[in-house]
Amino acid sequence: MGELIKSENNNVEVGSVLESQLNDLLNGQFGRAKKIVFVDENTHENCWPYLLTNFEALKEAEVIVLPTGEENKTMEVCFQVWQALSEYKIKRSDLIINLGGGVVTDMGGFIASIYKRGLAFINIPTTLLAMVDAAVGGKTGVNLLPWKNQLGTFTLPAFTFCDPIFLATLPDKEVESGKAEMIKHGLIADAALYNELKQKDTFTTTKSIFSAIQIKARIVDLDPKESGERKKLNFGHTVGHAIEGLCHQEHIDVTHGECVAWGMIVESRLSGMMGLLNSQEVENIVSSLISRYGTPPLERKAIDALIELMYQDKKNNSEQLNCTLLTAIGNAKIDGQIEEGQMRVVLDDLLKK
Ligand code: GLY
Repeated sequence: MGELIKSENNNVEVGSVLESQLNDLLNGQFGRAKKIVFVDENTHENCWPYLLTNFEALKEAEVIVLPTGEENKTMEVCFQVWQALSEYKIKRSDLIINLGGGVVTDMGGFIASIYKRGLAFINIPTTLLAMVDAAVGGKTGVNLLPWKNQLGTFTLPAFTFCDPIFLATLPDKEVESGKAEMIKHGLIADAALYNELKQKDTFTTTKSIFSAIQIKARIVDLDPKESGERKKLNFGHTVGHAIEGLCHQEHIDVTHGECVAWGMIVESRLSGMMGLLNSQEVENIVSSLISRYGTPPLERKAIDALIELMYQDKKNNSEQLNCTLLTAIGNAKIDGQIEEGQMRVVLDDLLKK
């Protein structure tokens, strides 16, 4: 058996899926359920054969291949899948298994949460990003462009199984993307994890993945619907989402993790500027993130557009820019109010001329 996280809002196992509770669940609690497996084109080829060969209970499963990529995380795709589920006569007592990265687990969870008012789903994330973030904590959703995750529900998966074996076929840039969210978990809640990841680069071990998920799981238990504490997980995301949105609009290829890393650089500097974080810690974070992720592929003339996107961010309730800030490495403070002028100064410093 792997490492377990079991609490009111979390059922997560990290380690080999072959030695996990999955087999018992498929044959026990879900023994009579029809199994529907959502994959994308990549996980259909690289991950599904591994499950199919090893789990007898999946031999009769229906496999639905979702189109790959964030641009396909749409209601249009959901409508087609709901139609297919209806044609397969899927009942509320049946089971969906989401095998993929954040797009599959977000959209698959959303499809499951709406169909016949909700049927159970299991997440088997296959990217580092999905293991430590998307597949845990119950946020499901799709995009309503240009707004990311504009439509969605809070619906908990019945179980999440994180097996690092799936990371072997993951492109390096996707692994780097997941590392940024793990660094974030260390920065907001666990200085020891941050220091260990920084010094030893142990991101893809069962132990580090487990520690990163444990941080998220604790926060989700304190505030499952994001009315307060859970906003700590948004550190780096006010600025990061704006960078990501603008880069996608301009067809610049960036990963979510890179954008979160650049967001964390800006939001750490803002924490320093507001007197919350001391200058050595700001320098520690900024130099380490710049050496790993470089700087954003945007010029200073993008600042107006970035700020406009930040004002539209669904995480903001007020007329003011709002960020999660750091008070120390390992401690965060939600709802930091930022003056537009302060944001401009920090962005101006980071972006190319
Ligand atoms: N991805 C942040 C959260 O789940 O709250």
